[in-house]
Amino acid sequence: MPLTKLPVAVLGATGPVGQKLVALLANHPWFGLVSIHSSERTSGSRYFDAIADRLFYSEDELRHAQDMILLPATELSSASLAFSALSASAAREVEPLWLQEGRSVCSNASAFRMHPNVPIVLPGVNSNHVHLVRSQREACGWNGYLVTNSNCSVSGLVTALAPLEGLSPMGACCSTYQSLSGAGWPGHPAVAALANVIPYIAEEEAKVANEARKILGSLEEGRIADRPLTMDVFCARVPVAVGHLMSAHVWFNEEFTVEQVISIWESTPAALIPSAPASSIVVRRENDRPQPSKDVRTGGGFSAVVGRVRKSESGALAFAVLVDNLVLGAAGAALMNGELLAANGYLG
Ligand SMILES: NC(=O)c1ccc[n+]([C@@H]2O[C@H](COP(=O)([O-])OP(=O)(O)OC[C@H]3O[C@@H](n4cnc5c(N)ncnc54)[C@H](OP(=O)(O)O)[C@@H]3O)[C@@H](O)[C@H]2O)c1
Repeated sequence: MPLTKLPVAVLGATGPVGQKLVALLANHPWFGLVSIHSSERTSGSRYFDAIADRLFYSEDELRHAQDMILLPATELSSASLAFSALSASAAREVEPLWLQEGRSVCSNASAFRMHPNVPIVLPGVNSNHVHLVRSQREACGWNGYLVTNSNCSVSGLVTALAPLEGLSPMGACCSTYQSLSGAGWPGHPAVAALANVIPYIAEEEAKVANEARKILGSLEEGRIADRPLTMDVFCARVPVAVGHLMSAHVWFNEEFTVEQVISIWESTPAALIPSAPASSIVVRRENDRPQPSKDVRTGGGFSAVVGRVRKSESGALAFAVLVDNLVLGAAGAALMNGELLAANGYLG
């Protein structure tokens, strides 16, 4: 543990993901929050004034930052590491400004996820991909390191699939039931979302497929070789506040039993960093779990919760997996990536 805390910033601090990052940074053992940033719409405002009408968490969780003044995202502070919860279009412009000035960035945004020199990392799933950052200075001309975390829905799938690598997964068919908070603030109008299901989320299905193949791929000679995995994906928005549920069917080259899979999941070690949960995968055996309203806070939102585990008629492993889209699917993953960069000596 460092003697002095590393100064960090949150970019996009006013949205649900940025608020969660600010909350998770209260009393963090390695990081100290020195600045918060947003767009020109809200910068210059006191934090609690800017988020008063879109407070996503309790005031107590965010109180340590209540009087901080929001800076424009383009104005760099003394932070050496920035956690980015910017919209993708803003991230594409703003994150390189920080990187060129020698700051590292852990980003939730999709802007650079599929860039060949940028890893998508979920600690405990593909922690070794963090070393792809070594290729960035020469290829991108940045003086800091950029690590991204995945799309929120894919985080549960890859957490479940990574420990099953020995069974040789070859294809998956997945349907998501994604919560409203996944669309940011203000998201869908209430009249369109309540008592309804919207069977389309722009660009989401391709993100789930492409990001799963990259995360489950291998780092070889300074590049990621994607895992060859056939992915059929369907994504829907459902009237749930927080928590993305996915139904998955996965076909393997190797024979397996359900008991064997559950035993592998229950013995999967967690990453050795401060925010990693005691269990990265929690298996529920009740027929009607996991449920967003009952299970989304498992492991503080850092655990993936698996249930309905069974073998299908076609021989697939079938299961449901739930993630807290704002923690394991977003802010918590970015925070753990900062810890992973620090633990590997990339932050000086
Ligand atoms: N919500 C989820 O479950 C989830 C999960 C995984 C990843 N993500 C990704 O994480 C990021 C944040 O998500 P969110 O749901 O919190 O989004 P959001 O509610 O739309 O918040 C976006 C943030 O970016 C800032 N911003 C927007 N345009 C800007 C610009 N031109 N310059 C500087 N700042 C700008 C906003 O500041 P103002 O308040 O000043 O407009 C706000 O702080 C997005 O890229 C999203 O795709 C979200």
